[in-house]
Amino acid sequence: MNSDKKKRLLTGIQPSGRPHLGNYFGMMKQVVNLQDEYETFVFIADYHALTTVRDKEKMHENILNMVIDFLAIGLNADKVVLFQQSQVSEHTELCWVFNCITTMPFLMRAHAFKDAQEAKKKDITVGLFDYPVLMAADILLYDAEIVPVGKDQKQHLEMTRDIAEKFNSMFGDTFILPDALIRDDVAVVPGIDGKKMSKSYGNTIPLFAKREEIERLVKKIVTDSDGEMPKNVYAMHKLFRSEEELAPIYESHKGRYGDLKKILIEDIDAFISPLRERRAEIAKDINKVKEILNNGANIARELAGAKMRLARERLGLLL
Ligand code: ADP
Ligand code: TRP
Repeated sequence: MNSDKKKRLLTGIQPSGRPHLGNYFGMMKQVVNLQDEYETFVFIADYHALTTVRDKEKMHENILNMVIDFLAIGLNADKVVLFQQSQVSEHTELCWVFNCITTMPFLMRAHAFKDAQEAKKKDITVGLFDYPVLMAADILLYDAEIVPVGKDQKQHLEMTRDIAEKFNSMFGDTFILPDALIRDDVAVVPGIDGKKMSKSYGNTIPLFAKREEIERLVKKIVTDSDGEMPKNVYAMHKLFRSEEELAPIYESHKGRYGDLKKILIEDIDAFISPLRERRAEIAKDINKVKEILNNGANIARELAGAKMRLARERLGLLL
């Protein structure tokens, strides 16, 4: 039945390093939870990662690792279209079209650009400046309705909607306005210093961390207390257990930060160890991983190609 047609969900992640608990709870897990309910597209944003990764071996490795990570957490490659952004040339093609209707002052409002400017970085590239426009192209090419992301991407989604509206009003309805899907409880997962967990702050716990690494990192969690509550330890613990479960534990271990950290280490390790095992299995067959990406790119290219033709037609480029 047509009314049963699933809505389309799409998201991307940059292959810029190992994913961490913030990526997992903020975005990756949402996708796995929703993959049956939505027609799901997940891509590796390798062109976006070029703004920071300039090492051939690293890039290659990061891309494959990110795909393996997604499969290991339960992304079902038989259902989900999983692909590499750079394999579908329409992303950069549509980005150019959007560049021609997007103003510099509009892009100057982007947080990432403003942060770089405030830090007085002299090497801000055109790619970093244009990052939100490529992201708009990623999303709008596929008529995505729902885009699961962490809160740091909220502004990018708003900019995507603005760009879609602008194109639609200039050239006629062509693109669907997507909604960000941001879960309040995990919108900003804190890192071991209490600030937003991020690859760029060196405060992460990697999603596939080994036991020793988990121990070392949890021990480093800054124990600023709120009364007798070590709030950074608790904030991380909440990812793994309900508040009801945690209340008696924190009550009976008042002020004993070291013991609470030990319990947290056990909880994180119990969660990660089956994932690590599944990951090791999947990593044995790299050809299979590449095949998944190729199949995904073939499907993505069809849709992106059709949308790009429509855009060209609306622009007066088709003779
Ligand atoms: P990072 O900041 O570590 O470089 P990315 O930019 O690669 O992370 O983010 C990938 C996805 O994970 C995005 O949807 C982003 O919003 C989400 N995300 C990243 N860090 C967090 C966090 N600490 N809490 C919640 N979501 C996050
Ligand atoms: N900017 C996103 C991040 O850093 C990654 C990304 C690129 C993305 N294109 C996207 C996310 C399209 C969602 C949809 O996390």
